[in-house]
Amino acid sequence: MSEYVKIVEVAPRDGLQNEKQFVDTAIKVELIDRLSAAGFPNVEAASFVSPKWVPQMADGAEVMAAIARRPGTLYSVLTPNMRGFEAALAARVDEVVIFGAASEAFSQRNINCSIAESIARFEPVAAAAKAAGVRLRGSISCSLGCPYQGETPVSAVVDVAERFLRLGCDEIDVADTIGVGTAAQIKRVMLAVGQVADLGTQVAGHFHDTYGQALANIVAALDTGVRIFHSSVSGLGGCPYAKGATGNVATEDVLYLMRGQGMDTGVDLDAIVEIGQWISGHLGRKAASRAGNALAARKS
Ligand code: HMG
Ligand code: MG
Repeated sequence: MSEYVKIVEVAPRDGLQNEKQFVDTAIKVELIDRLSAAGFPNVEAASFVSPKWVPQMADGAEVMAAIARRPGTLYSVLTPNMRGFEAALAARVDEVVIFGAASEAFSQRNINCSIAESIARFEPVAAAAKAAGVRLRGSISCSLGCPYQGETPVSAVVDVAERFLRLGCDEIDVADTIGVGTAAQIKRVMLAVGQVADLGTQVAGHFHDTYGQALANIVAALDTGVRIFHSSVSGLGGCPYAKGATGNVATEDVLYLMRGQGMDTGVDLDAIVEIGQWISGHLGRKAASRAGNALAARKS
């Protein structure tokens, strides 16, 4: 039996949120349905944030109402506050994501409050999620570096991880928002977070690929025992409040890597290659996954 690694597909949210042209609700729905049909255990489907801050995600409720829910796939959405949580609950999501940062400057730019204020704002969201029996995930942006503050001390990441665990988070994302981390740093931060959380079941690696380090960082995190990773089909994505940061690590590349490592993901790589080519074509650009493009070329 090969070992299982959970891959969380984030393209419908992280992948699309930074697109300048509004992506039609129908395309978002088709993307989510094709991804869930390919076997993902978890798809990050939408954000219930202020449409003034992230206009691309304004149709989250319509998206959630129209998708074909596949048994075996959990659908997650971002919820920065109670307003977002209530909308998410009405949309029958499986998991809500509270998102903070290990950097004060990024917290201010992304959610307009300090780290401490964000935790206070998340408290009622966490309590309501627990009361409603909805899974709770906490995402820690700028865990490796911040566009405004530079390198992030490991202690700042552990501090937010502990606060998220106290709020009752089922899972915590160590997020390299701007993709600056390298393998040795990833090992250090994961092992430190491993002092307060179970690396195999509670901690996810969410790596953007700006500096081309994401796959190496995933291997480094695997070595520490992490078994949950986020990726985005065709490497789509970026955060509107992290200028210059590129997309998440491409799902095609991650699945190809996992297959080589003898890890089981339950996701159909061929289907993902096709989805990557389709959505990239729809967005008017060449697909960005190296493995995806190589596999697509071999097929044609
Ligand atoms: P604020 O301006 O401080 O708060 O924003 P506010 O309460 O004054 O609200 C401002 C306006 O938004 C008001 O409308 C509210 O009603 C409305 P107005 O009265 O001006 O017409 N509003 C909402 N509308 C819909 N849904 C809501 C909601 N809340 C308020 N939930 C706030 C604070 C947190 C709302 C804002 O800063 C925000 O929405 N930020 C979201 C930023 C975001 O989504 N960033 C990208 C996702 S994070 C990310 O990509 C990183 C990640 O991938 C990990 C990584 O890579 O690091 C997760
Ligand atoms: Mg991200």
